Amino acid sequence: MRRPTKYTTSARLYDLISFEWPVYRAGREVAFELLNLPAGSHVLDLGCGTGLNFAGLQRMIGPTGSITGVDASPQMLEQARLRAHRAGWNNVTLVAADATTLASADLGKRAPFDAALSTYALSLMTPWQAALEAMIAATRVGGVVAVVDMQRPVGRAAVWTPLAKLACRLGGADIEAHPWTAMTPLLRDLSTRSVRGGHIQVRVGTVVSRPAEPSS
Ligand SMILES: C[S@@+](CC[C@H](N)C(=O)[O-])C[C@H]1O[C@@H](n2cnc3c(N)ncnc32)[C@H](O)[C@@H]1O
Repeated sequence: MRRPTKYTTSARLYDLISFEWPVYRAGREVAFELLNLPAGSHVLDLGCGTGLNFAGLQRMIGPTGSITGVDASPQMLEQARLRAHRAGWNNVTLVAADATTLASADLGKRAPFDAALSTYALSLMTPWQAALEAMIAATRVGGVVAVVDMQRPVGRAAVWTPLAKLACRLGGADIEAHPWTAMTPLLRDLSTRSVRGGHIQVRVGTVVSRPAEPSS
């Protein structure tokens, strides 16, 4: 498995150093609002990191739902495990895997999922197209897929571009990847939102058909 080099020793500090509260939390809150999942939903969180999406997801899905978090970094997964343990969430399953070569056999009995999301993660993956397709392939027809990712700020917010580029570079993200652009032909009823001066892009759409699994 290809391991991202950035998310090893820094995993324990990730929640503190990732600009979560001033910047990136806004994107996940918009995704939760657009996903609007019913209680009991089974959700895939691709590139889940330390599990910063888990509390928001739990608010919607409740104890009868489940979260399957996938990440390539064992250190990030350990932080996610601690978060779930401390909160008493028994419905979280964590899987160490490379999202770009993901197969349904990696995902356990909850697949295909009612929903899948990937926040600030696809733009770190090469090729991100394979991870996006794997995410859609792991979601049932009629289920929903959310992508939250980054680009350069636009309009008056463009003055923040050097800072946005620095944050992406430090995190190992390609600010020019724009992975949400590939969702349009694959999903229907695509909702589009943009926050923090366009730096954060949110897309949520419904799965119409599941692409074939990537060959290993
Ligand atoms: C910037 S963090 C975002 C974590 C989390 N989604 C969030 O919103 O805070 C990116 C995560 O993607 C993971 N990652 C990078 N490449 C990956 C890959 N090919 N497969 C699975 N996870 C990967 C990293 O280990 C890291 O935890």
